[in-house]
Amino acid sequence: MVAGNLPQHVGIIMDGNGRWAKRRHKPRAFGHNAGMEAMINIVKRARELEIHYITVYALSTENLKNRPREELDELFNLLRKYFGNHVKELHKNGAKVRVIGDLEPLPADVKQLLEDGEKNSPPNGEFTLTFAINYGGRDEIARAAELLRAEGIEITEDTLSKKLYTNGLPDPDLIIRTGGEVRLSNFLLWQSAYAELYFTPVLFPDFTPAEFDKAVKEFSHRTRRFGGI
Ligand code: FPP
Repeated sequence: MVAGNLPQHVGIIMDGNGRWAKRRHKPRAFGHNAGMEAMINIVKRARELEIHYITVYALSTENLKNRPREELDELFNLLRKYFGNHVKELHKNGAKVRVIGDLEPLPADVKQLLEDGEKNSPPNGEFTLTFAINYGGRDEIARAAELLRAEGIEITEDTLSKKLYTNGLPDPDLIIRTGGEVRLSNFLLWQSAYAELYFTPVLFPDFTPAEFDKAVKEFSHRTRRFGGI
């Protein structure tokens, strides 16, 4: 069990699906499928712990530009499958779904599914699962600044925050990256200013609820000073 301070919002960089599949001599899509299962289990665990926000990095702007077409198609198929089944269940269980990122370049049906997932969310859900899809932190900040400029609004931390995709979400308290790399890769750059970071070599399909508990436990022992003493 996890005792002590719990994070309210956890962001997860789900890395390592490809290597997990490769070690099993399987195609990368096999790894993404397993990653999807892992993600579903983590969301369940987060709800048990009464963590209120989970944000997953499902596809970066760089992934969309640089991954082969076939792999992107597999990821879109996974989304089609997931949004068909699990998202409705999340809604029934009082969870909201949110999507952050530029949905314009996605296949029209996927874009529609994602938008419907957001639109059909219960208004007062006590848990929010946010998918970062074709998301990039720099792109998000540049867009927000451009919106403010176009509207003639002064740029301050407060006005800019409100124009980010994440408007209305609290900043993440904890960011987890699986798969052994020790970097943020353009994920929630603005919002992670005071987040605690947790890196693990565990590949995402092996990131079980027990591994998630470890990260949350480590968070609960850290002292956050937010620039104070
Ligand atoms: C990174 O692993 C993972 C991704 C680019 C996709 C993450 C997607 C899922 C976990 C599937 C479930 C979620 C949705 C919403 C479709 P990688 O492929 O970069 O792995 P590697 O670093 O081992 O090559």
